[in-house]
Amino acid sequence: MSAQVINGKEIVSAYRAEIKEQVDALKDRGVQPGLAVVIVGDDPASHVYVRNKAKACEEAGMHSEVYKLPEATPEAEVLELIGKLNADASIHGILVQSPLPKHISEERIVESIDPLKDVDCFHPVNVGNLMIGKEGPAPCTPAGVIEILKKIGVEIAGKHAVVIGRSNIVGKPMAMLLLREHATVTVCHSRTQNMEEITRQADILVAAVGRPKMINRSHVKPGAVVIDVGINRLETGKLAGDVDFDDVLDTAGWITPVPGCVGPMTITMLLRNTLESAQRTAH
Ligand code: GUN
Repeated sequence: MSAQVINGKEIVSAYRAEIKEQVDALKDRGVQPGLAVVIVGDDPASHVYVRNKAKACEEAGMHSEVYKLPEATPEAEVLELIGKLNADASIHGILVQSPLPKHISEERIVESIDPLKDVDCFHPVNVGNLMIGKEGPAPCTPAGVIEILKKIGVEIAGKHAVVIGRSNIVGKPMAMLLLREHATVTVCHSRTQNMEEITRQADILVAAVGRPKMINRSHVKPGAVVIDVGINRLETGKLAGDVDFDDVLDTAGWITPVPGCVGPMTITMLLRNTLESAQRTAH
């Protein structure tokens, strides 16, 4: 039987409509949520992502500011800009698009952002809060995956969830959020032995490896929910996920398309984090 392809467009537009309603309610109380995005350098893919983030913000009725800095910008100048944004009451979320040029320390930049405005949830304070289950932002991509699972009505508690990938942005926080939802969680990575044996035990399989079409039907238990976080540009110019969609289609129970599901849901979570940051200041 063929898997149900998760309708990302429908989930995302319903979610964004809810966010917009809450933005309008907050505006009625005199607060317009504001997001500042900082991008350094000319990476074309990063510029596309940043444009999409700013556009989504405006469509949700939020204020957005994009700071495009040249590749050679000294780190001190970026830090100075972040200091100004930290002090700016009209800005509730600050996001510095990565990757940054090599002469700039991602660590110093992330640590300079006020944790209350860290809508990526990359600041060590927020990473720590996530670990101990404290209220606050969750990183956008893994938070989006949890919302997708909830929207399609998949029970997470008690299920075996396998995450492939251990990055700080996706794999590790993904495991933590699944654990928070009471899944039994296994994390696989490049040194994992007999990976297929492990992934075939997964009720929920999250692929976040960054290698096109690496996951095929031999990795998937029949009926499993397969969430593809990967977005890889092929030599042909087409986009492909980490999952070989066509190969897995007859084995999985549910599967996300790439593009059009996890990507737009990630931006939706950025809107949610910015909104919630603004709501906290309005209390
Ligand atoms: N580069 C790729 N993904 C992300 C993200 O989620 N946040 C930031 N700041 N940079 C990114």
